[in-house]
Amino acid sequence: MNAAFQSLPPSAASSVVVEETALRTEALSLWYGKRQALSDIDLDVPARRITALIGPSGCGKSSLLRCLNRLNDEIAEARVAGRVRVGEIDAYAKDTLVHDLRRRVGMVFQKPNPFPLSIHDNVAYGLRLLGIKRRRELDERIESALKAAALWDEVSSRLDDSALELSLGQQQRLVIARAIAVEPEVLLLDEPASALDPAATLRFEELLHELAQRYTLLLVTHNMQQAARVSHYAAFLHEGRLVEFGDTDALFTNPRVRQTEDFITGRYG
Ligand SMILES: Nc1ncnc2c1ncn2[C@@H]1O[C@H](COP(=O)(O)OP(=O)(O)OP(=O)(O)O)[C@@H](O)[C@H]1O
Ligand SMILES: [Mg+2]
Repeated sequence: MNAAFQSLPPSAASSVVVEETALRTEALSLWYGKRQALSDIDLDVPARRITALIGPSGCGKSSLLRCLNRLNDEIAEARVAGRVRVGEIDAYAKDTLVHDLRRRVGMVFQKPNPFPLSIHDNVAYGLRLLGIKRRRELDERIESALKAAALWDEVSSRLDDSALELSLGQQQRLVIARAIAVEPEVLLLDEPASALDPAATLRFEELLHELAQRYTLLLVTHNMQQAARVSHYAAFLHEGRLVEFGDTDALFTNPRVRQTEDFITGRYG
């Protein structure tokens, strides 16, 4: 899938040689009006792994995620420089279609945002946009997405009920099912577990591990235990700069940069 990519050397901020890169940013910068929110981010996101994106509030984590699937296009004063590559696709190239990019790079937000439709139609939504109309194929893909999101057993008998009737944790798994139904390459998750109770959070983390067997996950979390528990790689962002990227165990036990250490030990942020 990323054949053109694999021969490239890892980018400078990286301390690890990544076998396969699903998504790469090159000198990615972002401004809101005159204020710069991201500066020269070089990040290689490893394929079929969980990469945690950590850093203090306001450091640019959500902004970075939004650059990766061009959600910033919706913000009039946002301006992006540099490159984002997803497999062989250049996200900001003139001939790149935003809806194609967003199919490849799905997003899950902190607050689950199911559409005011049935459970079935939420998951069918993206599939219908892809032109899949045959009932049987739709139903098969919906079932498999709901199973992959660990929700099928709870909703299989009530697919026509409104998605808004589901619990928060169920809604979060439903939007994951909606996102993975279209088989994205990368799934961006912006604090997806912050509204869940401890038991639901642990189940959710198990789900992330299962998803990482097929998908590339980039996970923003404020929970350092969670980052240490679930991620394979971690990236520490501070004031719009990528300070450190590396293997999660190494970054948490032996950070190379003082700022990273101060942050993960709770001295600031
Ligand atoms: N739509 C916007 N317009 C203008 N400035 C913005 C916009 N969104 C974010 N910013 C600014 O960009 C900077 C980074 O914000 P961002 O939301 O990316 O941080 P974050 O790391 O996700 O923080 P948190 O952990 O609190 O969610 C902040 O200074 C914020 O005020
Ligand atoms: Mg944020």
